[in-house]
Amino acid sequence: MYGLVNKAVEELVITQFGQDKWEAIKATAGVDVEVFVSNQAYPDEITYRLVGAASEVLKISAEQILIAFGEHWVLKTASESYGPMMKAGGKNLRDFLINLPNFHTRVAMIYPDLKPPRFECSDIEDSSLKLHYFTHRPGLTTFVVGLVQGLGKLFNTPATCEILARQDQGAEHDVFKVAWTLV
Ligand code: HEM
Repeated sequence: MYGLVNKAVEELVITQFGQDKWEAIKATAGVDVEVFVSNQAYPDEITYRLVGAASEVLKISAEQILIAFGEHWVLKTASESYGPMMKAGGKNLRDFLINLPNFHTRVAMIYPDLKPPRFECSDIEDSSLKLHYFTHRPGLTTFVVGLVQGLGKLFNTPATCEILARQDQGAEHDVFKVAWTLV
């Protein structure tokens, strides 16, 4: 994955737990990269090892770390560094989710080697929809939960994201029911 993903993991750990923990996590992961370069592609393995080591060092489950990372990604990384792109994604949570299937097409203009996730929406109602997530990367189900929760906060729209089906439990792909309060 592009370096900006690992950079965001680093920033989350340092701001919430401090530099020492980050050094410990890198050592545990056996990652000796000093500075991640945003627009350079790194093996996915590095990101997975960092998340696994963060879980070990911080004594928080990897699933919880991925939720926190998803929220951080939306509320800090995306909002602060890619504001215009996030704005173009939609004016409220519902529109943003409906537009999500196309979102990474724009991201790919800046990061041409992007291997993006694929999303689809179904059962679209006024205050809920089903979000379908297709990926070749295993283990990121709760990252999506965190991303959606982050979007709810971004749009000041209290939202829940329930996992209805998981690829790692035999389903064909991950499905989430996202529901929000009309404001
Ligand atoms: C401007 C904001 C965003 C940028 C710049 C961005 C960029 C990226 C990048 C660089 C990756 C790694 C893939 C690679 O390097 O090949 C990625 C993966 C991913 N993104 Fe985004 N993204 C953004 C917003 C979002 C949002 C809002 C969501 C969903 C709500 C999302 C969902 C995901 C998921 C689930 C993955 C994991 C990849 C996979 O399943 O294969 N992203 N994105």
